[in-house]
Amino acid sequence: MQIETTAVQALREHEHGAVVPPIHLASTFRLNPATEDGPFAYQRGANPTRAQLETVLAAIEGARHGFAFASGMAATAAALGLLSHGDEVILSATVYGGTFRFVDQVLPGRGVTGRFVPDLGDLTEEDFTPATRMVFVETPANPTLRITDLRRIAELAHRHGALVVVDNTFMTPVLQRPLALGADLVVQSATKYLAGHSDLLAGVVTTDRDDVAEAIALAQKALGGVLSPIDSYRLIQDIKTLPLRLGRQQANTVAIAEHLRGHDAVARVLTPGSHDDVEAAVHDSQASGPGAVVSFELAEGVDDVAFLRALTIPAFAVSLGGVESLICRPATMTHEAMTPEDRAGAGITDSLLRLAVGIEHEDDLIADLDAALAAAR
Ligand SMILES: Cc1ncc(COP(=O)(O)O)c(C=O)c1O
Repeated sequence: MQIETTAVQALREHEHGAVVPPIHLASTFRLNPATEDGPFAYQRGANPTRAQLETVLAAIEGARHGFAFASGMAATAAALGLLSHGDEVILSATVYGGTFRFVDQVLPGRGVTGRFVPDLGDLTEEDFTPATRMVFVETPANPTLRITDLRRIAELAHRHGALVVVDNTFMTPVLQRPLALGADLVVQSATKYLAGHSDLLAGVVTTDRDDVAEAIALAQKALGGVLSPIDSYRLIQDIKTLPLRLGRQQANTVAIAEHLRGHDAVARVLTPGSHDDVEAAVHDSQASGPGAVVSFELAEGVDDVAFLRALTIPAFAVSLGGVESLICRPATMTHEAMTPEDRAGAGITDSLLRLAVGIEHEDDLIADLDAALAAAR
């Protein structure tokens, strides 16, 4: 079945013949007095509505297990929580700022070391030590849209007994399936494309490994950062239109990137694979499209504040994945936790802008960008 169908049809049987699932709000459930068990006992451990969402999450990923958390960071924290005292995780220096904060400020207290490398594409056998238990990857990277070869990283990491975690927020299972490429876990901020309307915070973990699934279920129960029944229901409904929305957002993005590349007020345009032909080939081999984020720098003499003020459609705000276009300045907003040297090394210049494209009409978006570029000269 194609993902467009799975997203809508993964859940079919509901009470009374309803075509959408019920929302079960109960925090606690009647148990069998003889055995003291039942299908559900207490909402934090499991509840019927979250369980239905988790069925959908696993189905669209083609995974054996899916888990819903209260935010993308709760999902990421559960994945990184698989590490224990003495372990090391290797990550890209351009990893999402919240992940950087968790690895930089929380993991050291647990005796876990995070090693940030400028480019995971350069990772070799020599980078692994006996302590390396995990490699954490984002591809395309944010906001440079640099590409990492997931098959290569998985082979390398598995030779050293390390787990591979992929943050697939930018691609979603519509465009990229990391588990099929060798990853052990996928995490996503469902706040972005999965929810898609800038009104819901949620996170996802999917895996095919039963041992990993057991540990993630324990993280849900022991740490308690689970998604509520109402938000679980909302996410079930939002996911039904994910392939449609992302398809439109991606088509808009391709048109905008091409337009900006031909514009003399724009100095540089970054899209997945734009770095070089090798990355372009890798991205084509592991993903089915470029997604819906484009980063760009304005030409000398074009004032970015005037440009941002003149835009009438994209809102100046962090985040991405919603139906409405958003634009931000990563150096001072999403990546301010990095040192200026690390940002420079990663290619995140102060003038780089990141546009997360929505589902508005491409002609209106391009006209708005053109008018703002003209006003900023
Ligand atoms: C790539 C990526 N991963 C994880 C997160 C964290 O997700 P959340 O904000 O839902 O906690 C974000 C949020 O911006 C993100 O962009």
